[in-house]
Amino acid sequence: MPELQKVKGRTILITGSSDGGIGAETALSLAAGSPTCILLAGPSLPKIQPVIDRISGAYPDVETQFIPLDLSSQHAIREAAADINKTVQSIDILINNAAIMACLLAKTADGIESQFGTS
Ligand SMILES: NC(=O)c1ccc[n+]([C@@H]2O[C@H](COP(=O)([O-])OP(=O)(O)OC[C@H]3O[C@@H](n4cnc5c(N)ncnc54)[C@H](OP(=O)(O)O)[C@@H]3O)[C@@H](O)[C@H]2O)c1
Repeated sequence: MPELQKVKGRTILITGSSDGGIGAETALSLAAGSPTCILLAGPSLPKIQPVIDRISGAYPDVETQFIPLDLSSQHAIREAAADINKTVQSIDILINNAAIMACLLAKTADGIESQFGTS
């Protein structure tokens, strides 16, 4: 697909790329366009590792990296940002995919209603 040429050589960050979700399928689709690197961010390595394995198996030239990220905590977000800064020089494409919805009333670590504070 000609559109995929736009991602060739790019560095991509996708939040919420757990196996089976839209973020994971987005990562796999974009990997076909030969980006240099895809950073897959989320709370759970076990949920993201299968996606990394699928990308590495099908597109071995595409670098992949798990970034621990909990969007329900401003402190954790800053830690993830520092991690990203250490891992890559810049991000060309950011896909803010992660979100929660229709959850029980709760607050984040920062005292914000959880759906608003996380998504
Ligand atoms: N599916 C639909 O019909 C639909 C419709 C409209 C909009 N959307 C939006 O499209 C996006 C993807 O949807 P989806 O169906 O793939 O949803 P999903 O399977 O629930 O995926 C949500 C992703 O967000 C991650 N996430 C949840 N809490 C997080 C946190 N605190 N910090 C970081 N990441 C967190 C999840 O990680 P864990 O798996 O580790 O929890 C998961 O990877 C979401 O933003 C959703 O609201 C979906």
